[in-house]
Amino acid sequence: MLRFLVACLIISGVLFLTIRSVHIISADRIDTRKDPVWVAPDTARIPSTAEGELIRYGRSLIAGTAAYLGPQGKLARITNGMNCQNCHLRAGAMPWGNNLGAVSSTYPRFRERRGAVETICQRINDCLERSLNGQAMDTAGLEMRAMLSYMKWLGKDVPRGEKPAGTGIRSLKFLDRAADPAKGESIYLKKCVSCHGPDGQGRKDSSGINYLYPPLWGSNSYNTASGLYRISRFAGYVMDNMPFGASRQNPGLTEEEAWDLAAFVNSRPRPEKNFSGDWPDKALKPVDHPFGPFADSFSERQHKYGPYAPIVLARNRKAGH
Ligand code: HEC
Ligand code: HEC
Repeated sequence: MLRFLVACLIISGVLFLTIRSVHIISADRIDTRKDPVWVAPDTARIPSTAEGELIRYGRSLIAGTAAYLGPQGKLARITNGMNCQNCHLRAGAMPWGNNLGAVSSTYPRFRERRGAVETICQRINDCLERSLNGQAMDTAGLEMRAMLSYMKWLGKDVPRGEKPAGTGIRSLKFLDRAADPAKGESIYLKKCVSCHGPDGQGRKDSSGINYLYPPLWGSNSYNTASGLYRISRFAGYVMDNMPFGASRQNPGLTEEEAWDLAAFVNSRPRPEKNFSGDWPDKALKPVDHPFGPFADSFSERQHKYGPYAPIVLARNRKAGH
């Protein structure tokens, strides 16, 4: 009898974990009526302790990165002048705004791009080297420790292993055609040009340090090894957040427009970087990673712009399901 009970317990435990991991994987298509969207803790409640100081410093590095680390940075000059907050809205606290709420609950974790387990500090350096087209920072330094403390505080109410709804970037449904840079350009001219400019270079504020409107391409923009250079990431981000002021609840774009905009912006010139160690297992490359070698025979162009359904189909066939 006892043995039977123990077996039952083990089986239900395994079932529970399986369901949990399915839940995590399908977070993008979560039913938000049942699964509450992540809300950031209140900054007014950051403790008045030494640790609290570190958390506040981390937050200000993320909100105002350029002043510390940009081309005129007071600490170091190692980035392109963008702020982390340009892409992680409200210092990484905004629901659906590519927030950082699930970082402390899900890292360290195995990442396909690195082909190894990655820590939060390594992930931060990834964005420094790619999204900010800059240089990595010392992982033991004060600035890194501050950003780490801030992210741990942001995610303090998220249980280990959970990725709540509304964190990170959503994955939109694939188009059944290739995303079209020409269509994207005409949408850009209607909906984006007023802030990001006809040349995509954005505009600095009166201090000349911070971007009022960050660049979308050109030498001060994210490089070709960054997340936004994959059109699914770009489309998911702008769908829920652009034109500035739009939100998941009040979008300013259709999904089709988001894909075409992604194709247009990512067809413009930008810094080229190639990290040769990326995706050591090419079978794990996301379908929209635009650089070969691939584990399939589709062209770089099709990986960059789609259509993706044939690639997914071929992969599933190969995997035998
Ligand atoms: C040009 C846009 C951009 C900038 C600037 C940027 N990031 Fe990111 N960041 C991204 C994208 C895109 C992702 C991947 C999100 C996804 O796929 O869900 C990401 C992911 C992350 C993650 C992992 C999130 C997770 O849940 O897996 C961390 C941590 C992070 N960024 C930190 C930073 C920090 C710190 C800075 C500033 C030093 C920064 N980022 C600047 C675009 C950017
Ligand atoms: C009203 C001004 C405005 C409009 C219009 C606008 N944006 Fe933005 N955009 C911003 C601001 C401001 C930020 C940075 C947000 C922050 O730092 O809080 C931003 C950030 C971004 C980013 C991430 C940072 C970067 O530079 O890579 C992308 C991508 C982006 N916008 C794309 C678009 C697209 C595509 C459109 C057209 C659908 C658009 N934006 C329309 C103001 C605007």
